[in-house]
Amino acid sequence: MRVYLRTFSLCIVIALLSLVFLFSKHDAESFKAGLKQVRAPLEPSVAKNFNGVKSKQRPTVTASHSLRNVAHKVNSPGKRETSMQLAVVACGERHGEAVNMLKTAAVLSSRALRFHIFAEEQLHSNIKTALDSWPAFIRAKFSYVVHPISFPHENHEEWSQLFKPCASQRLFLPMILKEVDSLLYVDTDVLFLQPVELIWDMLTHFNSTQLVAMAPEHEEPRIAWYSRFSRHPYYGKTGINSGVMLMNLTRMRMAQFKNDMTSVGLRWDELLMPLLQKYKLNITWGDQDIINIIFHYNPEMVFTFPCHWNYRPDHCIYGSNCIPAEEEGVFILHGNRGVFHSDKQPAFKAVYDAFKHYPFGEDLIASFLLPLEAALNGTTHTYCGKVSHFFTRGLGKSVRKIQRMTPVGG
Ligand SMILES: *[C@@H]1O[C@H](CO)[C@@H](O)[C@H](O)[C@H]1NC(C)=O
Ligand SMILES: *[C@@H]1O[C@H](CO)[C@@H](O)[C@H](O)[C@H]1NC(C)=O
Ligand SMILES: *[C@@H]1O[C@H](CO)[C@@H](O)[C@H](O)[C@H]1NC(C)=O
Ligand SMILES: *[C@@H]1O[C@H](CO)[C@@H](O)[C@H](O)[C@H]1NC(C)=O
Repeated sequence: MRVYLRTFSLCIVIALLSLVFLFSKHDAESFKAGLKQVRAPLEPSVAKNFNGVKSKQRPTVTASHSLRNVAHKVNSPGKRETSMQLAVVACGERHGEAVNMLKTAAVLSSRALRFHIFAEEQLHSNIKTALDSWPAFIRAKFSYVVHPISFPHENHEEWSQLFKPCASQRLFLPMILKEVDSLLYVDTDVLFLQPVELIWDMLTHFNSTQLVAMAPEHEEPRIAWYSRFSRHPYYGKTGINSGVMLMNLTRMRMAQFKNDMTSVGLRWDELLMPLLQKYKLNITWGDQDIINIIFHYNPEMVFTFPCHWNYRPDHCIYGSNCIPAEEEGVFILHGNRGVFHSDKQPAFKAVYDAFKHYPFGEDLIASFLLPLEAALNGTTHTYCGKVSHFFTRGLGKSVRKIQRMTPVGG
């Protein structure tokens, strides 16, 4: 009798476990199915992808007539893999900043680029008008797509209000850009001071477990934000900064991520909502915190690149603490906390303004580099100004190289 009872209770336990498994699977499926476009169905291919329907259709190339041929050439089959994919999310007042970032990428890079610009509907025409107004010799370097902002349907409010509006969009890029193998995501407040190909080529240096590359949030654990204040797990000693994030999306879509919620690995798209639910009260920096939590449990997936690939005011406001920048110059400048637009860090603002005011096709040294150096010479009363020759070191070299390759006047 005892034996029967035991067998019976064992059966019940197994049945319950299977039910739990089925339900959790069902939840994950409905979460995926809930991924839907929020706004009007501008781009059918995107909407299809969201509902989990395999689609070979490529996103619409938004380009002027004269550009169609160029865009086609850049993205023709076989060649597609060679163009560097750059993504940015621009909401609210950020589209001017995003366009200036794209300008730095287009001016300095020699390899074909494809821009994925995620923006609120009302910004689309502004962005397209700005990019279409650039001269043909610059437009020949890139094609672009403007995507609507989209979130998982049922938690739209929560996602879109996390941190800054739309910032969490970036978490969904592996699911939205299903046809894209790898992607460089940057915040709008970023400026390239070196060609994009230099960071893009880091992808080929990933070992077999790495699938993202980012810089540490801070160089010094004793004064770093995460190690002092965060109320959730974070990557490494100081956390990582997600403002410049290189991703192998193919690997992100395939990987199983270890986590503190289930004993089995979860796929990226299964991981996000449970993480948000668990940590939403403890999150300060929005999606960057989610990224830190994920990679806290999966450190072998991260390729950390040095601070000069994501150089922020933190690296100079109290004196220089980014040694690679001292040695090789700054490669990517990240003006977080609005420093490109305020007078708090005039050296950062000077670089932003120099790119913004540079007229395409004019002599890069006379109309860009020298005025920039002069402006930076006027900022040496600040700590960042004192080290602003780090900003122009690599930039000067690349600008001279491009100058040799580009015929004057385009
Ligand atoms: C990304 O990872 C996939 C799968 O490992 C690989 O086939 C692909 O070549 C990688 N992409 C790049 C640009 O390295
Ligand atoms: C959130 O922060 C509180 C206070 O520090 C902590 O007790 C709690 O465990 C944290 N929650 C999670 C899910 O880590
Ligand atoms: C890849 O590099 C990371 C970071 O250095 C490391 O943690 C991981 O073990 C490496 N993976 C392999 C397969 O060597
Ligand atoms: C900026 O200052 C440096 C050092 O004083 C000087 O060599 C350089 O010529 C100045 N550049 C401009 C454009 O004024």
